Amino acid sequence: MSALSAVASVVPPANRVPIGHTSGLVINLDLDKLMAGRLLIQGSSGAGKSFTLRKIVEEAFDYLTVMIVDPEGEFGNLAEHIGATTIRAAELTNEGLTAAAVRGRQHRINLHVDLTDLDPEDRILRASAFLSGLIAVDREYWANTVLLAIDEGHLLAPHLAGSARDAETRRIGVATLTDVCARGRKRGVAPVIATQRLAKLATSVVSELQNFLVGINVFDRDIARAADLLGFDRTNADRFRNLAPGMFFAFGPALCDVPELIKIDPSITRHLGCTPDLIESAAHGADRARELLDLDSLRSCAATSRDVHLVTKGRGAIDAFLLDPNAATAARTVAALRKISPSATTSGDLALHLGAPVSEVDDALDILSAMAAVETMPRGPGRIARLHARLRQRLTDIKVVALS
Ligand SMILES: Nc1ncnc2c1ncn2[C@@H]1O[C@H](COP(=O)(O)OP(=O)(O)OP(=O)(O)O)[C@@H](O)[C@H]1O
Ligand SMILES: [Mg+2]
Repeated sequence: MSALSAVASVVPPANRVPIGHTSGLVINLDLDKLMAGRLLIQGSSGAGKSFTLRKIVEEAFDYLTVMIVDPEGEFGNLAEHIGATTIRAAELTNEGLTAAAVRGRQHRINLHVDLTDLDPEDRILRASAFLSGLIAVDREYWANTVLLAIDEGHLLAPHLAGSARDAETRRIGVATLTDVCARGRKRGVAPVIATQRLAKLATSVVSELQNFLVGINVFDRDIARAADLLGFDRTNADRFRNLAPGMFFAFGPALCDVPELIKIDPSITRHLGCTPDLIESAAHGADRARELLDLDSLRSCAATSRDVHLVTKGRGAIDAFLLDPNAATAARTVAALRKISPSATTSGDLALHLGAPVSEVDDALDILSAMAAVETMPRGPGRIARLHARLRQRLTDIKVVALS
């Protein structure tokens, strides 16, 4: 072994990137230790979490592949900056997303997964499909290291679920993100997860994270949990209440040995989740406002619309439904949608299936939508409909049976 290579083998690689400052000192994020211990960025809305995620990605993308999971569609310009390919999750199937993650890892492609336009359940399922691809990749690709930046982590692995159906989706989301955190180190995946409230993110995910950036917190319960994470006593815990945006307590092997209050440095790309500057209402006169709203046409639209079902409740609504000439088509539409639930279909497809004209199906969908029995778009080509979440939930309700 030459003298040079002997030195190279004992000097640790300097995989440290600057992300902020404290009293004039640079605070670095150690990417090797991040791989071993992951990172949680926590703070109330406006704390600067997305900004910090942006800063970390900008600094780290020269060192490893970056995959951004973006529930709010805030990181399009960051993706452009680092040359990441944007995948709109709503346009791919779950299988497609898993394959994209596998190929991204195999070929070391920076990816930006945009989860906008998905309902909360689909968002969890699509993100889980992508994340499981990252972990399922063959051992030969584990060396292709990935920084996995996840904003609003509680949307993908929520602590609580609202209904029986959500509970199953939540279980998938929590299990997948926990698995990525737990098995990620050996498989070359370093998750950085931002969340507003510790109480909202599944505890099994939080307990896998060993590095912390904790910003402003306003709820007592969050303050107590944040203090626990950083080992603060009660008096120090109150310091979480008054932090400015971009100020975080940094702690953990990849950041600081003892908690340090740091300010995250400015990013290169423009932060798209900025709080907008206040702007007063426009000084339209009463007539101009009436004209812009087109109030008269709105009134006549209400008089002719089928929204009449919305204001008729209980027996009145049932009577109105039974007397509607399209009640039979509406009932057949529900039966058809029930068969494919929770998937959606188009009004054209429904018309074909029911052997009815599209206009009749459109009328039926209008009634059902007014009764909150289906989720659908306004009339038009490619109109999509599916059974309303309330009814979908009933289909999967667990039956209660007598023991004897
Ligand atoms: N390090 C920083 N330096 C300067 N300004 C910052 C910094 N961090 C955040 N800000 C400003 O604070 C505001 C909120 O930041 P950001 O959108 O990142 O908050 P957030 O914690 O992600 O909030 P939410 O949970 O609502 O998404 C933005 O206007 C941003 O420009
Ligand atoms: Mg944010």
